[in-house]
Amino acid sequence: MKEDFMQPHRPQWKSRVGFLLAALGSAVGLGNIWRFSYLCYKNGGGAFLIPYFCALICVGIPLMILEIGLGHKMRGSAPMSLAKVNPKWEWLGWWSVMFVMFGIVLYYSVIISWCLNYLVYSLDLKWGSDPNAFFFKDFLSLTRGPSEIGNIRSNILGALAIVWFINWLIVFLGIEKGIERANKIFMPLLFVLTAILVFWSVKLPGAREGIRVYLKPDFTILSKPGVWIDAFSQIFFTLSLGFGIMIAYASYLPRKSDIVLNVYCIAVLNCMFSFFAGFAVFSTIGYMAYQTNMNFKDVIQESIGLAFIAYPKAISLLPFLPQVFGFLFFSTLFIAGISSSISIIEAFNSAVVDKFHLNRKTVTSVLCLLGFLGSIIFATGGGLFWIDIVDHFLSHYGLVIVGILECVLIAWVYRAEKLRHHIDRVSDLKVGVWWNGVIKYLVPGILLVMLVNDVVYEIFNPYGDYPTVAIILIGRDWLLYSLVAAFIIAMRPWRKDIHFNGE
Ligand code: ALA
Repeated sequence: MKEDFMQPHRPQWKSRVGFLLAALGSAVGLGNIWRFSYLCYKNGGGAFLIPYFCALICVGIPLMILEIGLGHKMRGSAPMSLAKVNPKWEWLGWWSVMFVMFGIVLYYSVIISWCLNYLVYSLDLKWGSDPNAFFFKDFLSLTRGPSEIGNIRSNILGALAIVWFINWLIVFLGIEKGIERANKIFMPLLFVLTAILVFWSVKLPGAREGIRVYLKPDFTILSKPGVWIDAFSQIFFTLSLGFGIMIAYASYLPRKSDIVLNVYCIAVLNCMFSFFAGFAVFSTIGYMAYQTNMNFKDVIQESIGLAFIAYPKAISLLPFLPQVFGFLFFSTLFIAGISSSISIIEAFNSAVVDKFHLNRKTVTSVLCLLGFLGSIIFATGGGLFWIDIVDHFLSHYGLVIVGILECVLIAWVYRAEKLRHHIDRVSDLKVGVWWNGVIKYLVPGILLVMLVNDVVYEIFNPYGDYPTVAIILIGRDWLLYSLVAAFIIAMRPWRKDIHFNGE
């Protein structure tokens, strides 16, 4: 590696544990708690764990080795690392951090702000006897469709400002003093809170039935391609793959770092966390079914409704300190969300600092201000529709396309063996030749089949019941505009002290 590639002033994690907690903080997010549990329920209970763990082993772990290995070798954010592999591919790095920063984190922070609102509402169980009406009418003031934006919800806006302030403060303080230090508090706290919720809820009457539904496998469902697609896209989202985060985080590692063992720890702990948190969700919903004398399937709710309708309903029925339980539950979601949102901001932040050599603190401030302003559209009466459409396109298609292209670039253009050689040189635990083949054929192959299947299905069954024009303008175009912006930025010259020579 040439001298000009070295960046003596690049920030570094203070310790290996610091890096692990930060990467875990990024992985463990809102998706682990309600999204995983709901997907499990929808896709055959315990049987869903089969495609889920297949996705983890076949795609999640190999791709995370690629991203962390790449960021570590190139010592750069996603655009910089990809440009070092081949300058013609810099756009891919920009595209990933672009649609994640100006897409995913915008609505993600709105959901965190809902958690903040609900955390306060828990204190007097403000959702009352009808959490469904409370959520859609009083809280969101939901309009009739995505084209009807409605008013900005002041309660959500206030919480959103707090969320962006916390995001800003942590990222502003830097890698070691901000992100590493925050995660050293957030992660242990998150595990303790989750453990309290699990042990509290498994003791409730009816919990056993909830756990039975959670773990009882329905193997017949495994023949449906949709179940596998759900498992693979959940693995992308939950491991923060295709976000450019792991590449940027790995660029702050010291030269000698056990990449392979780090990846195993992050991936396994993240998935175990989801599995563990599922016990709290299913036990509590099981308790609600028991109390109301209803079937489990009649009380559980789809996706967002699970956390903001079904759970509040169950909390109100608790015999003992429901306010405390609610407060703990929404605090858990809040912490999980913040530790992920800061990682997304850092992925973009580092990209801008790398390319334009601007002051890190100024970039963070401008970025968080733009992020806050951009989030406001999701805090309106029509915000929930926008969240649903943007999330579907960005996490279903955007992340998967980035994953495929990263494999193509590393395995076919750069050569997987070269990156594997670097990873093995710095790691105590070696990766093995199997990885070359997996990155070359298996991961892009699986993802491509999944993508084509998804696109074909989508053409005949447009997502949700939304008007086609809304799907095109809000969903597909979000990806297209960020792609155009990525190309434009990639064409700008690099700061003067960086020279690429096709490493
Ligand atoms: N990995 C983060 C989550 O699961 C983005 O929510």
